[in-house]
Amino acid sequence: GTNRVYRLAVIPGDGIGKEVVPEGLRVLEAAARRYGFRIETDQFDFASYDYYASHGRMMPEDWKDRIGGHDAVFFGAVGWPDKIPDHVSLWGSLVAMRREFDQYANVRPVRLMPGVASPLAGRKHGDIDYVIVRENTEGEYSSVGGRMFAGTDREFVVQETVMTRIGVDRIMRYAFELARKQGRRRVTSATKSNGISISMPYWDERFREMARNYPDIETDSFHIDILCAHLVQRPDHFDVIVASNLFGDILSDLGPACTGTIGIAPAGNIDPERRYPSLFEPVHGSAPDIAGQGIANPIGQIWAASMMLEHLGESEAATAVEAAIERVLSEPSLRTCDLGGRADTATCGKAVADALG
Ligand code: NAI
Ligand code: MG
Repeated sequence: GTNRVYRLAVIPGDGIGKEVVPEGLRVLEAAARRYGFRIETDQFDFASYDYYASHGRMMPEDWKDRIGGHDAVFFGAVGWPDKIPDHVSLWGSLVAMRREFDQYANVRPVRLMPGVASPLAGRKHGDIDYVIVRENTEGEYSSVGGRMFAGTDREFVVQETVMTRIGVDRIMRYAFELARKQGRRRVTSATKSNGISISMPYWDERFREMARNYPDIETDSFHIDILCAHLVQRPDHFDVIVASNLFGDILSDLGPACTGTIGIAPAGNIDPERRYPSLFEPVHGSAPDIAGQGIANPIGQIWAASMMLEHLGESEAATAVEAAIERVLSEPSLRTCDLGGRADTATCGKAVADALG
């Protein structure tokens, strides 16, 4: 037997989460056989509408104990807007996990894959390949502030951006380390220090300071507005982009939009210090409009599995899964209908597992 054993908390959630998670597991099992490690899974039914319907809450009170000891969380999607408001379902589950497990790095690879048409004219497979690293715990998304004199002429609201040295430095360090690990040349900082004149100059200052520790990595810095334009007009310039919570949120929808379909994009919510399990998920949601039909694209979930393998230290397997994804996407008959193909979810998932050899 092998001593490389990984215990996963598997949370399919709602809608197509329940259809794509099994395909992610299928590929993980195939990778485990091929590369000589073992996957042990515990399935959890919470973080779903069904759980909410029978328990009146999204997760059990002791959810942290139930999944806090696992090596990673493999997550599908949560949300069923016709039956439960999104702020209840998402804040009661996914957002709570990200917060409580201090998953401060939200990581989204953006790559133009074979067989996927980019809305950007003239771009082909390989032309777009960068990673967005978003600060996931503080910044603009703070709950510091308030409303006063409600309903009167003097009514006002204040919401403060909070940037701590610990919070800013750790996300920047993560971005530089990621660049080094992946052999990427450059880290780009998303800023707005020409308009936001206190916190963003601080962000710039910490970026310059952190860059001194990585003389092998080139750096540049763009204001968020022109950065958005560059991501459309010259996406080939970028390697790793580090951004505050709000800017990273915006960029991490812009990036995948430029590479075609939401069905293949993955995300990692990572605690780089490994005090808590990190969470890997597709970028897409529960897609109620196609749920139950077996036609969802499983590639986003499978790519998330590859990110998880990388995090667990199984780099070779992670690289092989990505190569298998590329091979399957190159074959029109193996693509799902969102990519113009006719394969169903399981056919596509099996094809990736088979391509691992
Ligand atoms: P969505 O991502 O679920 O769907 C958007 C559109 O993309 C739909 O037309 C859907 O059919 C299509 N789509 C998404 N994933 C696909 C896949 N794998 N294959 C083929 N087509 C795919 O976003 P929507 O409709 O705004 O949200 C639905 C629910 O999911 C809401 O409750 C929302 O809050 C939740 N949500 C959850 C997320 C998460 O768990 N991380 C992320 C985004 C949304
Ligand atoms: Mg968003």
